[in-house]
Amino acid sequence: MSAMTEKFRGFLDRLRAAGELIDLRQPVDIRHIATLVDQSDKALVFHNVVGYQMPVVSGIIRSRERAILSMGCAEYGEIERKLQQGISQPINPVRVASAPAREVVATGDAVDLFRLPIPMSSIYDGGPMVTAGVVIARDPEYGMNCGIYRFMVKERDLTGIDIVTPNNMRLFAQRAHEVGRPCPISISIGTHPIEIMGAGYRAPIGMDEMAVAGGIRGAPVELAPCETIDLPYIADAELVLEAEILPTGWTQPEGRFGEFTALMGGLHWNPNVRVKAVLHRRDAMYYALHMPWENTWLAAPTRYQAIRQALKTAGVQVKDINVTLGGRAFWHAVISIRKQAGEGKNALLAALSVLDLKHAVVVDEDIDVWNPVEVEWAIATRVQGDRDIVVIPGARAKPLDPSLPVTPPGVVPTGAKVGVDATIGEGIPRERFERISYAYAERAKIADYVAGKADPVLVAGAGRVPALAEEIFAAIGQAPLYYQDIADRFSGADFQTVARALGLLHEQGRLWQTAEGRMCVRGSAQAARPPARA
Ligand SMILES: Cc1cc2nc3c(=O)[nH]c(=O)nc-3n(C[C@H](O)[C@H](O)[C@H](O)COP(=O)(O)O)c2cc1C
Repeated sequence: MSAMTEKFRGFLDRLRAAGELIDLRQPVDIRHIATLVDQSDKALVFHNVVGYQMPVVSGIIRSRERAILSMGCAEYGEIERKLQQGISQPINPVRVASAPAREVVATGDAVDLFRLPIPMSSIYDGGPMVTAGVVIARDPEYGMNCGIYRFMVKERDLTGIDIVTPNNMRLFAQRAHEVGRPCPISISIGTHPIEIMGAGYRAPIGMDEMAVAGGIRGAPVELAPCETIDLPYIADAELVLEAEILPTGWTQPEGRFGEFTALMGGLHWNPNVRVKAVLHRRDAMYYALHMPWENTWLAAPTRYQAIRQALKTAGVQVKDINVTLGGRAFWHAVISIRKQAGEGKNALLAALSVLDLKHAVVVDEDIDVWNPVEVEWAIATRVQGDRDIVVIPGARAKPLDPSLPVTPPGVVPTGAKVGVDATIGEGIPRERFERISYAYAERAKIADYVAGKADPVLVAGAGRVPALAEEIFAAIGQAPLYYQDIADRFSGADFQTVARALGLLHEQGRLWQTAEGRMCVRGSAQAARPPARA
């Protein structure tokens, strides 16, 4: 795979060239931007935002197609493979001395977040939300961490940060809070989607997400030093905030906001953040990542990767996975497996161990995980609730799950995980799951008949019924036959004569059926007997 050294602006150019980005040069009110992005099937650049100097770019990874484009992939599944490559072959970032984001630097009293063109999003928002900040932090013991967390602007140099979820950033902030010290962070805004994807990957502590981004690129991510804190930022960023999470604890109201859940989240209790410096390019653009879809398309591959990895470790052979959109590409997975006895349950145990995955359905490999009707059909026909539904209470949950009970500020709720084993149960006969397969499907094609095809006309031979009955009886005496086999074997006779001959055998009490439903001689060894009473 060739290295991908494309930068943020290079990606915008590529979107423009692909007809996936529209430049709007007329004055646009900042209050209208989010709804315009919501209505647009293309990415948008607002070059003239009334009252602000910086243009706003939004919606760049808001569609499946643009997410695929951003990763330099040909199809969606390839994004997960690239991510896997980034994880297994990470490339450490390199430090550069300076970066374009340093062209304009404001520190101390000059910091003024209200100069940033942060669009108003939904009607119940708690304030201007910075949504695309790739955050780099360091813990004295655990090392570097990177993730994306939203910031609600409150004052010229004060924001909230949403870290209600039990992730590594929350842990770093919690540890700093416990010893009463601020936790410095750099916030890089306007970075290539590869860095967004790397930051969104839930790496275990000690693993550098920017090295994962480097691995995805096949080339190192460049980091440049901050001015006021001892941390780096992404050198390609349009805009950088240097800040520290204050040791306020989870005491400050933050939100509401239209979350990844596609719901208006409630008020969150979070720490505050002091912004010490704002750095930006002279001609910086402000990237307003639009919720919820700009989050979804690159977050989903991180779930695919984690689930596939967990099942691999569990030794279960996966055929396909669908991290469904109704589950917000986060809470639900339908997984088809090549099952050995008991592995429906093993697969559930492995899948449900993943992060905050809440509901998993495991199906056999004949079920198409991308077809919701087939999946439901498997649940309807293969599941016994007392045998196949696994409920694990008290597991790690995502606090943004609106079905969880209310918890006091700072308390992380736990929740239930549910697995549905919709594979054919052990001891259940496979024949019960034979799909309808119409007789003569190979031979009789509707298109031919619509085009005028006619079948041969056979002469009815009512007088032949007794003789044909004997021929059929002899044939099923040799080997039991399905109804279609008999129709086929005696296709020289018109079908009504065949049916009447079978009728005669029934009448004479000479016909019976095998357990598979073939016609056979009554009283023969193959003749089925009703199952014994329990
Ligand atoms: C666009 C975007 C916005 C996000 N916003 C938040 C957020 O506000 N709060 C949060 O806890 N996680 C948010 N996340 C998810 C975290 O960035 C992600 O889970 C990350 O892997 C956490 O990393 P960590 O465990 O290293 O802290 C967001 C992810 C994306 C892609």
